[in-house]
Amino acid sequence: MSNDFDPEPLIVSWVDKISPYIPGEQPQTKDWVKLNTNENPYPSSPKVKKAIQEQLGKLRLYPEPQSKSLRQAIAEKFHLSTSEVIIGNGSDNILDMITRSFVGLGQAGHTVPSYSLYPVVVGLSGGDLINIPFDKSMDLPIEAIAKTPASIFFLTNPNAPTGVGFSIEHIEELLKKMQGILVVDEAYIDFGGISSAALIPKYKNLIVVQTFSKAYSLAGLRVGYALSHSSIIKVLDRVRDAYNVDRLAQVGALAAIKDISYWEKNCQRIIETRLKVEAKLEGLDWFTYKSVSNFLFTQPKNNKGVTGSRVAKSLYEFLKSKRILVRYFDAYALTCSFLRVSIGTDNQMKNFFEGIELWHNQEQQN
Ligand SMILES: Cc1ncc(COP(=O)(O)O)c(C=O)c1O
Repeated sequence: MSNDFDPEPLIVSWVDKISPYIPGEQPQTKDWVKLNTNENPYPSSPKVKKAIQEQLGKLRLYPEPQSKSLRQAIAEKFHLSTSEVIIGNGSDNILDMITRSFVGLGQAGHTVPSYSLYPVVVGLSGGDLINIPFDKSMDLPIEAIAKTPASIFFLTNPNAPTGVGFSIEHIEELLKKMQGILVVDEAYIDFGGISSAALIPKYKNLIVVQTFSKAYSLAGLRVGYALSHSSIIKVLDRVRDAYNVDRLAQVGALAAIKDISYWEKNCQRIIETRLKVEAKLEGLDWFTYKSVSNFLFTQPKNNKGVTGSRVAKSLYEFLKSKRILVRYFDAYALTCSFLRVSIGTDNQMKNFFEGIELWHNQEQQN
């Protein structure tokens, strides 16, 4: 084969059309206040490190393919059986397995705005994605969702990037009305939301997806899981890569889920900081959605009391120039005048408010 070989004509047509998922920036130096990717600012349980260290001598061997011990521990936590649990290489891997199993060249749905990976996994499987918009209230559009012909509907609860949580009554109403499978993505559920996991024994068309990345401070380990009726888990297991969760990830996540008091304290600290930050933003008279997650979606106001995309972008860029990273979503009218701010340590949040003060001061001078 000559060196002028061009793979372009061989690309699968739907892969060719995909815009890849753009993760938040991960600067490689330490001097940043990183409030852009909803990571947990606190370390994981010390028991995780110990469990991982004990495995380091065994890396020659493949991991247990089904992550059996971890499935067992998660099943116990949610009062389910192991046949109702599957483990993924991060919950992103679970979302991809769900799409490959139940969407294919068909249709999936999601709300707008929500997690920007859904269009990518649906696109990769060759399917179409139906957009159901929120209005400014961010209330769950139950009737519109129920009417979609999609085989899978992705619902992020609490929603991202707003942090708004949905009630179990509304989710149950939706489950009763819809034809397809409801995937409730609960990546941020442990910061004050109400999980739909308790509905699993009652509704066969429900998949609940959770992760170790946020509440357990293990984003770098890549472990997520799904809870659902065994008939759905069985299908997901068919498309799962044989060794999808590595040896270190399995034991690390297992140690984390067993350290219940550490996890509870970790979540509580974030909730307490979030409440303080919320109150301070209210003091600035910035509209902020009521969050039950580890981030806040707030609409910055400049000195003249003006909001809008230019104001939000100006603050985003100013903060970045001070090495404070938050997230700005310019794609939608409902999001472009807001910033999403992850809840960090109290000290990081102090830096964030100092950044706002400097921004206001420099505006005054201009
Ligand atoms: C709504 C939502 N779901 C899933 C994920 C992915 O989590 P994981 O790290 O488990 O792949 C994220 C990550 O930020 C998220 O925001």
